[in-house]
Amino acid sequence: MQICFARRWRHCCFDAKMHVYNQCTFVIAKKELDMLRIEQLTKRYPTGDLALNGVDLEVPERQVVALIGPSGAGKSTLIRCINRLVEPTEGRIWLKDLEITRLHASGLRRARRRIGMIFQEYALVERLTVMENVLSGRLGYVGFWQSWFRRYPQSDIDAAFNLLERVGLVDYVDKRADALSGGQRQRVGIARALLQNPDLLLVDEPTASLDPKTSRQIMRLITELAREHGLPVVINIHDVPLARMFAQRIVGLRSGVIVYDGPPEALVADTLTTIYGEEDWTDSQRADEPDEPVEQELHLPQQALTASG
Ligand SMILES: Nc1ncnc2c1ncn2[C@@H]1O[C@H](COP(=O)(O)OP(=O)(O)OP(=O)(O)O)[C@@H](O)[C@H]1O
Ligand SMILES: [Mg+2]
Repeated sequence: MQICFARRWRHCCFDAKMHVYNQCTFVIAKKELDMLRIEQLTKRYPTGDLALNGVDLEVPERQVVALIGPSGAGKSTLIRCINRLVEPTEGRIWLKDLEITRLHASGLRRARRRIGMIFQEYALVERLTVMENVLSGRLGYVGFWQSWFRRYPQSDIDAAFNLLERVGLVDYVDKRADALSGGQRQRVGIARALLQNPDLLLVDEPTASLDPKTSRQIMRLITELAREHGLPVVINIHDVPLARMFAQRIVGLRSGVIVYDGPPEALVADTLTTIYGEEDWTDSQRADEPDEPVEQELHLPQQALTASG
């Protein structure tokens, strides 16, 4: 009787240990999978506008997520809460195992190095050259005096050259930013974000000021580079066909709430109506033009073509 009880007790202990072990490995495996984790994110602006209302989102490594939704849905607010350019009202955000929402000054500065951002209006310093703008992506890494005199290590300069070659701007390194076209400016923005060597790329309306053909080139460049660098990307974009073409996953936001989260193929008319309402979304579909490979259009050197696979 006593032996039987002892055996059962041992079994119980073993089962309990296995349960704890399974839970732990599940949690660890999950943490390893999700580069970005957002829990119950809410943002109410001082004006009273509720831009985000309890958003949950997990983005695994290497995934390209397109964030779509009507104007005012909260897309930019969501992207900007991730690197705390906008301060969330409630909720928690993790970059891998680092809780962004708990960080203060220097910790937040360090965390922002790990998050590359590409802006709609490029956010370049107009009077600086292409090379200087790209190198500014390293500002978070070099010391105060080095950044004051804009002295960068040779390794940063070499990396900037490689990236400029990859985005098709190697012949423009000494050109001032204000002498570039919109598409060229966005390529500078992309190279700058990647020179940060980030763990995550946030992109806010990268094509809003560009023509349809350049928009496609830019989206292709962003997603190809993200793949080459093994980065997850959250792209906020108005253009539904572009989102479908380049993202692996679509998240639809409406009035600060996620109303769709799934693959591009499942984004049918009914779902678009749920996201955009009855009339909006068909207008946002652009007539597709014949597609050309971006490398051909950019006249990239052979070396870069090989590197891009
Ligand atoms: N700085 C701000 N102060 C007050 N309200 C704001 C501010 N920024 C955004 N909002 C409000 O928050 C809501 C979400 O705005 P947000 O810019 O995030 O939307 P969006 O989806 O990016 O729109 P769009 O597609 O037009 O860029 C809107 O109601 C907007 O008016
Ligand atoms: Mg916006």
